[in-house]
Order: sequence, then structure tokens, then C-alpha cells
Amino acid sequence: MKTLTVALPGREYDILIERGLLPQAGERVRAVLPKAAKLAVVTDSSVAPLYSKTVLDSLAAAGFEAKLFPVPAGEESKNPTQLARLWEDFMEFGLTRTDGVVALGGGVVGDLAGFAAATVLRGVAFVQIPTTLLAQVDSSVGGKVAVDLKAGKNLAGAFYQPRLVLMDPDVLDTLPLPVFMAGMAEVVKYGCIWDADFFAFLAARPSRGELMADIEHILYTCCDIKRQVVMDDELDTGLRMILNFGHTLGHAYELAGHYVEWSHGQAVAAGMCAAAKLGVTLQVTPAELPGRLEQVLAGLGLPTSICCTAEEYAAAIGLDKKGAGADITLILLDKMGHAIPHQIPKTDLLKLL
Ligand code: GLY
Repeated sequence: MKTLTVALPGREYDILIERGLLPQAGERVRAVLPKAAKLAVVTDSSVAPLYSKTVLDSLAAAGFEAKLFPVPAGEESKNPTQLARLWEDFMEFGLTRTDGVVALGGGVVGDLAGFAAATVLRGVAFVQIPTTLLAQVDSSVGGKVAVDLKAGKNLAGAFYQPRLVLMDPDVLDTLPLPVFMAGMAEVVKYGCIWDADFFAFLAARPSRGELMADIEHILYTCCDIKRQVVMDDELDTGLRMILNFGHTLGHAYELAGHYVEWSHGQAVAAGMCAAAKLGVTLQVTPAELPGRLEQVLAGLGLPTSICCTAEEYAAAIGLDKKGAGADITLILLDKMGHAIPHQIPKTDLLKLL
């Protein structure tokens, strides 16, 4: 078992990483919620048939009354209507302030269930059991929970740390290959922004089989980096912004593909390549770096560039009437394994793009 502690004062929690952890969910949750009677387990229609029985049986064996609350799979479920439905369903279930909510699924389920847990009864205990690579290395750690609004993604939310994160790498075996590789974009990001040796380690493992052979080390390394960043800047006012490497331009690509053509991970992969090239133009990034990055991402079957119009770039960087003239902070790499914020007028950025 690999264990990491996110040591936030008063809100400390462990991330447990081990193959075969899912059937131990009950005893692990009981250890952090000794007095809870009921657990609302939020999941989605793809994950429920695969893993809900194992988790519910384990929770029941640990003395919990656990009930499943499935939502349709996909980003569309991360909305205020679904959130309000969960609130009402939790009340019907008889959830009290000493009970808890468990998120069993990917980033959508984690964000939605986490925001429901943060707000129902003014906050109940929350446990993350992430089932996608993206959720394991990013969204399940650090306490960002949210729903999407018509105006954009994650626009209503909170910082609400879980009480425990349970990661069973075995659940990744059922992910479709593109979903697994989309998660790899965020994994590669950690190498880029924080750890050049980790980037080299990943570069030497271009296939899913090779990556899965070392998956516990990969999850541990990513979560350890995220843990350190979150402990330094929980509320995202400083260091945490380095986690956005590739995300500003990635957002433009998601927008260009209407959130359908490109997954978040694919868009981030192309966004990191574009940011690396911008860094070279802005004389921040070494000239050889974009090629190394493109080679690794292409080897994983991820896109290294995506077509995008000037209007889509402008919308993604907020260069509308309100934002005209303002600066934007880009995350650039001054070397492999180290990210720095770089402020630039939005109009200049648009010209460069
Ligand atoms: N996913 C970026 C963050 O947690 O700050």
C-alpha cells in the first residue's frame, strides 16, 4: 500500500493507492468515519455495472447503510439540476450531518458528488473513489468540486477536501484506450511542470502495458506532486496555477471541438505542445523542449496540435469586450520539469497564436 497524506491544517486526509483496494472500501471508510451510519454512493451509468456491487458489499460489511445514486455518464450530468436532484434524494434517504457521500467514478462524478457533499446540510463527509486515470491523478485530489453553468464549465463550486481518497489501479483495466491515454496527458503534465526524471521515466514507457506495469509508482508520483502544490496553495491564488500548464490553450481546443470532438486530456496534450512552442517564441522555453514533448505525447496517441480559429482562441482567453487590454497569465516551462507563470497582454498572445 502506498499512502500519501495531504496535510492541510484541520482537513488532513490520506490518499491510499493499492491494487485490489476496492473490496476493502468498507473498512477503509469506517476508519475515517467511525460514527457514520448512512453513505450515499454517487456513481454513473458506466461505472455502476462494473464496480458498485463490490463497493456496496464492502461498505455494508463494515456496517454502513449504503445506497447507490447513479447519474447518466458524461459531462451533461455535472449541472445544477442534477445537483438539486441529489440534494433531494439524499434527504429522502435520510442522510444526516454525521453521515457521508462517496463518489465512485471519474471527474464528473467526483466534482458533482463533492459539491453535493459540500452543500447538503451545510457539508457532510466526503470520500473519493476515482475510477479513471484523469480523476486519480488530478480531480480527486485537492478539493475542487463544481458543476457547470450555461456560461461555462465549473462556474459554481467550492474548495471542499475529501476525508479519504481510495485509488485502486485495477479499475483502470476497464477504461477504453482513448480514455486511459487522455488521463496520460495530465500524467505527462506533472513531469513537465515538476519532475524532469519522471518525464524521462514516462518517455521510456510509450504503451499502456508498460505504463500499467508501473502504475502504482505513476499514481503515487502524480498525487505526491499535486499534494505538495495543494498544501502550498489550497485556494488557487499562487503556485496551484502551474497545474494549468496546457489548459488555457486546451480550453480553446475544447471550445473549438464543441466539447465533443476532443476530450479534456486530448485538448490539454495539444495545449501543452502549443504552450511549449509559445515559450520558445517568448524566449522562456529551451528550443529542443517542444520536440521532446511532442514525441512523448504522439507516442501515446495524443494530438500535438489542434486547429482553432482566432475567434475561438479569443473566447478561450477571455479576449472579449470586457477582457480587451487585460493581461493573461500563461504557464510556461523554463526547463523540462519546471513551470513558471508568465504574464502577457491578451492581445499580444492572440497575435502570437
Ligand atoms: N485541476 C487543477 C487543480 O486542481 O487545481
